[in-house]
Amino acid sequence: MNNLIEFHDIRIRLAGKPLLNITKLSVPMHQCTLLTGRNGSGKTTLFKILSGLLKPDHIRVHYQGLQMNWRQAKPYIQRDVIYLHQQAYLFDASVADNIAYGLRRAGEKKAAAQRKVIQALDWADLTHLAHRPAKQLSGGEKQRVALTRARILAPRLLLLDEPTASMDGEAKQQTSLLLQRLKAEGVSIIISSHEAHTVENIADQHLTLDNGDIRPLKQSAAHDKVTVLNPLKNTP
Ligand SMILES: Nc1ncnc2c1ncn2[C@@H]1O[C@H](COP(=O)(O)OP(=O)(O)OP(=O)(O)O)[C@@H](O)[C@H]1O
Ligand SMILES: [Mg+2]
Repeated sequence: MNNLIEFHDIRIRLAGKPLLNITKLSVPMHQCTLLTGRNGSGKTTLFKILSGLLKPDHIRVHYQGLQMNWRQAKPYIQRDVIYLHQQAYLFDASVADNIAYGLRRAGEKKAAAQRKVIQALDWADLTHLAHRPAKQLSGGEKQRVALTRARILAPRLLLLDEPTASMDGEAKQQTSLLLQRLKAEGVSIIISSHEAHTVENIADQHLTLDNGDIRPLKQSAAHDKVTVLNPLKNTP
């Protein structure tokens, strides 16, 4: 399996103490990785580094045939990697406007953005909520809006921090369905979760963050079942 991106020698100290010292993290193309680790092990910190939000003390990034340091890699990862926080952050606007926001910021014309939003709402089965104020949605619905907003920006790697925490069974199922669709479209995904069982059916590999480094736990059931229906832009 080809890797989408590889991160080497990720090191960061926080509050004077070493937190991460990861020799190598390979992200396989079109696959879903489950990342577990105890509270405070550094999962969120790692995601912030991988998405270009937090500068580590050291990192080497191998991407699209290039070997880059942090400064060189940052524009690439900020374009292609999206990090979704556990509490989906939505603006005080309608669901449709929330989904359109990233497109408009990226310079998309209003009519084209509108077409994409309509298609995206349909993709996520959110059409019936299009005009509802996003702030009024349930936690599960907000998470689906956030996933849809992320997808519309065509990321290559999606980092999901505890996406199903505090959701009921049905909301978990709906989120899981969208994650399966994203994977089938060719998006690589890393999910951090304390509830390994809820995402195990879509995870191809299971890594754990322990004592600052990453090690594999086991290969999950979904491995080798990947069907790429419509690769987005994953061919380097
Ligand atoms: N900006 C910061 N300054 C100092 N210490 C920090 C900072 N951010 C995080 N930490 C510390 O780094 C450690 C790792 O935090 P992080 O949030 O990455 O862990 P986590 O694995 O995501 O935990 P959880 O499972 O609870 O979400 C914690 O001890 C935290 O207090
Ligand atoms: Mg965390």
